[in-house]
Amino acid sequence: MIDSAAAPLSGRVVLVTGASSGIGRLASRELARRGARVTLLVRDPQRGESTRAWIEATGGLESPEILLCDLSDLEQVHRAAEEFRRRHSRLDVLVNNAGVLQRRRRLSSQGHEWTLAVNHLGPFLLTLSLADLIPSGGRIVNLASVAHTRGRFDFEDMTLEDGYSMWDAYARSKLANVLFTYELARRLAPRRIDVNALHPGTLPTGIARGHSRVASWLWKIVTRFSGRVEEGSDAVVRLAGDPELEGTTGRYFYKMSKAESSPQSHDRRLQAELWSWSLKAVGLTEESMFL
Ligand SMILES: NC(=O)c1ccc[n+]([C@@H]2O[C@H](COP(=O)([O-])OP(=O)(O)OC[C@H]3O[C@@H](n4cnc5c(N)ncnc54)[C@H](OP(=O)(O)O)[C@@H]3O)[C@@H](O)[C@H]2O)c1
Repeated sequence: MIDSAAAPLSGRVVLVTGASSGIGRLASRELARRGARVTLLVRDPQRGESTRAWIEATGGLESPEILLCDLSDLEQVHRAAEEFRRRHSRLDVLVNNAGVLQRRRRLSSQGHEWTLAVNHLGPFLLTLSLADLIPSGGRIVNLASVAHTRGRFDFEDMTLEDGYSMWDAYARSKLANVLFTYELARRLAPRRIDVNALHPGTLPTGIARGHSRVASWLWKIVTRFSGRVEEGSDAVVRLAGDPELEGTTGRYFYKMSKAESSPQSHDRRLQAELWSWSLKAVGLTEESMFL
């Protein structure tokens, strides 16, 4: 557990996606324990309520709010951003944590490959829709993964029609998280908003739920000794609030340490190409953004 004095978050308005389980659930509780006014973005109202009750019962200083949104659906992301803007006039910290490993190929309501829709396009639209509420000194934390090192983009086959693999789809979405982090960090640097990506560790969360029995069993074995979910949550809380990290932006963290992301993630042309493709995919233009 990290020292709470190292992360003073009292009164800060924080939005955490994927707050109903795993790293996001624990991080939301830790942020609320430090006095943050946390909004839990969840897709399931019951899981949201049970997370809120758990946070209230286990030391949250402020009762969290719930914001319902399935990030795979861009219409819902639009509505959630509007609802958040009705409730709050600023957003100090955005934690883009929600993520999936999608076993079988599936398309979102808007026809995007599901993993990319949930792990990248939903968070991309949410972030750009709320970026103007983030004040100078604010932070954005993007949960990526070391899996980004295996990610590949083929802009001719973004729906992965030509052969689908769960791990390839996941790796591509996590590379998107790192590429987005670097591009966004540069764009928000003049406003002194810090944007960083995090690999939280390989941790025993629900991310492998819904997979074959063998894959779930293997995941249990792999994560048995690889770390505790608390370590991932601590790393999120640190990036969200540690004063020592003020001004640290456009970096990739491996758990608690700054690390090098893949050479591909630093490719400015790829960053720009993904940015343009994503804008089009979510129905925005450069002119329509608040950045
Ligand atoms: N665990 C690891 O070893 C590991 C390693 C590297 C990176 N990460 C990253 O860490 C982040 C958190 O994952 P986790 O390990 O804590 O997994 P988790 O326990 O499965 O949590 C994922 C969260 O995302 C939410 N979510 C999934 N699909 C969604 C959708 N369509 N709309 C809104 N929310 C959705 C889930 O909601 P429900 O509760 O409704 O399912 C859940 O709250 C992810 O971005 C993951 O890629 C994890």
